[in-house]
Amino acid sequence: MDFDIKDSGLATGGRHRIEWAEQEMPVLRTIREDFARERPLAGTRVSGCLHITTETANLAHTLQIGGADVVLCASNPLSTQDDVAASLVSHYEIPVFAIKGEDNETYYEHIRAALDHRPHITMDDGADLVGTIHKRRQELIGDIVGGTEETTTGVIRLRAMAKQGQLKFPVIAVNDALTKHMFDNRYGTGQSTLDGIIRATNILIAGKTIVVAGYGWCSRGIAMRAKGLGGNIIVTEIDPLKALEAVMDGFRVMPMLQAAAIGDIFISATGDINVIDVDHMKAMKDGALLANSGHFNVEINIPGLAQLASSPPRKVREFVDQYELPDGRKINLLGDGRLINLSAAEGHPASVMDMSFANQALSAAFMLRNAGTLENKVYSVPEDIDQNIARIKLEAMGINIDKLTQEQETYLSSWEEGT
Ligand SMILES: NC(=O)c1ccc[n+]([C@@H]2O[C@H](COP(=O)([O-])OP(=O)(O)OC[C@H]3O[C@@H](n4cnc5c(N)ncnc54)[C@H](O)[C@@H]3O)[C@@H](O)[C@H]2O)c1
Repeated sequence: MDFDIKDSGLATGGRHRIEWAEQEMPVLRTIREDFARERPLAGTRVSGCLHITTETANLAHTLQIGGADVVLCASNPLSTQDDVAASLVSHYEIPVFAIKGEDNETYYEHIRAALDHRPHITMDDGADLVGTIHKRRQELIGDIVGGTEETTTGVIRLRAMAKQGQLKFPVIAVNDALTKHMFDNRYGTGQSTLDGIIRATNILIAGKTIVVAGYGWCSRGIAMRAKGLGGNIIVTEIDPLKALEAVMDGFRVMPMLQAAAIGDIFISATGDINVIDVDHMKAMKDGALLANSGHFNVEINIPGLAQLASSPPRKVREFVDQYELPDGRKINLLGDGRLINLSAAEGHPASVMDMSFANQALSAAFMLRNAGTLENKVYSVPEDIDQNIARIKLEAMGINIDKLTQEQETYLSSWEEGT
C-alpha cells in the first residue's frame, strides 16, 4: 500500500483518539450499521481531501464499511493529526497522504496521489480535488460519478464553476444542509476557534476586546462563544442585514479601521481576502493577536504584515509568530494565519462533525443511487437526509419532540380558516 505520513509509530495513540471521537458520533454509528448491511458503496473508489482528524477517520471507516475503497489527503497543510494518519494506515488499511506542516509542493503532490486512485466519488473540503481535476486531470472525469463538498468556500467556488458551465460532474453541497452549517459552522467553529486561540496563547479572554470579522455562520458562533468567556465583542461586516443582526444581538458594529485601534484579539471568518489589511495593522495596539478561522490563509494580509515589520518574525510560541513594527509595536500572527481551530487545536468536536459527516456518507450513497441521472451542477443535500440526521441525533441525545396531530396537519395545510 502506497502512503505518505509522518510516523507509523504514532498509530496506537491515533487509534485511541479515533475511538474516543466515535463515542460522540451516534449518527455516523447508526449509518455504519446500515452500511454494513446494505453495502451501498460496494466497489466505489472514494478520494477524500479532508482535514485528517479523528472525526474524518470515523467517516473514512464508515465509507469503508459501506464497501468503498478510500484514499485520503489533507485539505490544509497544518490540519493533519499525524497520529490519526498513522492509525488509518496501520489499523484501517486506508492509504493517507498527509503530514502536518507539509510545504505547498508536498501538499499538491499529496492531492495528486489521492487522485491517482481514480475516484468514482470525490470528497472535498475547499474544492481542491475538483479544482485540480478540472485544471490538470481531466482524464479522470470519465470515471467520476460525482463529488461532495464540505465547506462554504468550496461551495462558492463550485457554484462559480457551474455558473460558467465549467463543472464537469455533479457535486452535492454538504455545507448547505441545515444539519451541517447550523451546527458545525456555528457551534463547532465557535468553540474550536476559541480553543485554538487559547491553546496557542494561553491568554485570558475575559476583559479583552475581541474583533470578529464577519457575522455569518462561523463568525456568529465565534462572537457568541467569545462573549460567553467574558470578551467585549466588536463585529465588522459588509452585509447590512448581518450587521443589523449583530447590533440586535447586542454587539458593537463598526468598520475594521475603527475597530483596529481598539481590539486586543482579531478573528476573521469570512471566506474573503485581506479582511485584516495593512492599514488596519498600522492602527493596531502593541501586542494585538491576529487569527483566522476562514478556509484559506488569505483573510489576514500576511505578506503585507511581513513588509510592514522591521525584521523577520520571531516564533515566540509554537503557533505564534511575532512581527515587530518600526516603532516597536508587536503584532502576533497565530497559526500562520491558517484555520486556527485546526492548526492550534483539534478542529471541531466530534459531536458536530457527526452530523456533517453523516451528510457526507449519505450524500455519497445518494449520488451512487442516482448515478447518471444528475446534471453537472451543485445540488443541495436532499431534505429527507437532513431531517433524518436531525431525528437520529435527537434520539441519540434522548430527546423526544411532539408530532403534528391530524387536526394540526389539516389546519396547517388549509387556507380557508381565519379568525
Ligand atoms: N474553521 C473551520 O473549521 C470552518 C468551518 C466551516 C467553515 N469555515 C470557513 O469559514 C468561512 C466562513 O464560512 P461561513 O459559513 O460563516 O460563511 P457565511 O457566508 O455564513 O459568512 C461569511 C460572512 O462574512 C461576511 N464578509 C465577507 N467579506 C467581509 C469583509 N471584508 N468584512 C467583514 N465581513 C465580511 C459576509 O457578509 C458573511 O456574513 C469560509 O471560508 C468557510 O469555508 C471554516
